[in-house]
Amino acid sequence: MVKRPVVKELPGPKAKEVIDRNFKFLAQTTQDPETLPIVIEKGEGIMVYDVDGNAFYDFGSGVGVMNVGHVHPKVVEAVKRQAEKFTHFALNDFFYENAVVLAQKLGELSPGDFEKKVVYQNSGAEANEAMMKLVKYGTKRKRFIAFYHAFHGRTQAVLSLTASKWVQQDGFFPTMPGIEHIPYPNPYRNPWHIDGYADPKELINRVFEFLEDYVFKHVPPHEVGAFVFEPIQGEGGYVVPPKDFFKELRKFADKYGILLADDEVQMGVGRTGKFWAIENFGVAPDTIQFGKAIGGGIPLAGVVHRADIAFDKPGRHASTFGGNPVAIEAALEVVEIVKGLLPHVQEVGEYLHKRLKEFEEKYEVIGDARGIGLAQAVEFVKNKDTKEKNAEVRNKVAKEAAKRGLILLGCGDNSLRFIPPLIVQKEEIDVAMEIFEDALKASLK
Ligand SMILES: Cc1ncc(COP(=O)(O)O)c(C=O)c1O
Repeated sequence: MVKRPVVKELPGPKAKEVIDRNFKFLAQTTQDPETLPIVIEKGEGIMVYDVDGNAFYDFGSGVGVMNVGHVHPKVVEAVKRQAEKFTHFALNDFFYENAVVLAQKLGELSPGDFEKKVVYQNSGAEANEAMMKLVKYGTKRKRFIAFYHAFHGRTQAVLSLTASKWVQQDGFFPTMPGIEHIPYPNPYRNPWHIDGYADPKELINRVFEFLEDYVFKHVPPHEVGAFVFEPIQGEGGYVVPPKDFFKELRKFADKYGILLADDEVQMGVGRTGKFWAIENFGVAPDTIQFGKAIGGGIPLAGVVHRADIAFDKPGRHASTFGGNPVAIEAALEVVEIVKGLLPHVQEVGEYLHKRLKEFEEKYEVIGDARGIGLAQAVEFVKNKDTKEKNAEVRNKVAKEAAKRGLILLGCGDNSLRFIPPLIVQKEEIDVAMEIFEDALKASLK
C-alpha cells in the first residue's frame, strides 16, 4: 500500500511558533506562510513530515534539489564517510581526488566531442557568475544575450541576466551592462501570438528575425560572448521551447562565433529523463551550469565548460568552499543514482504529463499542461480563448493542495510546477492527482 499524505491542521501550533520567530530573526526571502506554512521535522523519499506530525508529498523537491529523494541512504552514507575523513581542505590551494573523479564524470556525461573542464561553486547564481567570467575571459567578448522570463540567480552580475519578475530587480539597478534580452520561444504565450505547438517553425523564425532585425541593429554580434538560456524555463513557468529551437540557436550562434551557455541549475541532473535537459534537444552547449540537485541537498554547483575557454592563470577565479569534499562525495552517489533512474523518469514523467493533459481537457481554468519527464507544470487562465492569466486560482490551488498534503510550488505569473523527486512511483502520482483535483475543485467554489 502506498503511503499517503496526512494533514490534521496546517499550520499546527508548533509550526506557527517557528514561523513567527522566523520572521522576527531571519531576512525576508520568498517564503509565503499564507500558502506553504510548512516547518519540516524530517524528510524521507518523496515524503516530508512537519513539526506537528503532518505528512506531505514533496512535489517541489525542495525547489528542484531533492531529485534522489530526501535522506537517500547512499547520500547519507557518503556524507558520513567523507565527514569522518575531512570536511574541508580548500580546493583553491590543495588537492583531493574525489573532486577530480566527479569533474571527469561530469565532463563525460556532457554532450560535445571536445575537451572539458569543471569549475566548482556553491550555488546556481555563483555558477552563472563563473560562466560569465569564463566567457568574457575566454572569448574576449563582453556582451551576453539572455531571454525574457529567464531566471539565473540573484547576485549582482547574474541579476542582469534574470528577467523573470520585476521584484527581483526592483531597487538593485544598476546591474551589469551589456545584456540584451530576447523573447523565449514560448509555444503557448509569445509576443507574436503564434500557436507554437501547431507551428513551431514559425515561432522559431520569429525569434531569429527579432535577433537579426532588431537586436543586431544596435548590438555588434562580434561583441557577444554567449547566449545564456535555460533548456526549459523553470522559474519563468516550466516553458518548453520547440524541439528544434536549440539546433537553430546553435547554427545561428556558430555563424557569429557566439557560445551557448546552458543553465541546467533547475532542469539538469535527471529532471527531464536525460542527465542534462539539453540532451532532449540534440545540441552540445559550450558551458553547462549546474547546481541544486547535484549535491543531493548539500550545496554544490559549478560549470562544465570547453577546455579552450578555461581560466589560464592562478588567481583568475577561485572559491573557498567551491567543491566542498562532503558535497562532492554526495554528488558522486547522486550521479550514479540519477543515471539509474533515467528510464523510470521518462516513464513516470510521461504518465504525469498525460494525467495533467487530462485536467487541461477537463477544466476551463487550465490553459496549458506542459513539460518533459518530471519537469511538468500547468498554467491557469480565466478563459481558454483569451488566455487571461489566473494567478488567483493558481494561488488558491497551491494553498488547498498543501492543506491536503501535496506540496506544489508556483512558477511564472500563473503556473504551478509538478517536480517530485525522481523516485516517485506511478501510484504516488495517482494520489497526487487525486489531491490536486480536490484542491482545484475547492478553489473554483
Ligand atoms: C535556472 C536557474 N539558475 C540559477 C538559479 C540560482 O540558483 P541558486 O539559488 O542556487 O543561486 C536557479 C534557482 O532557482 C535556477 O532555477
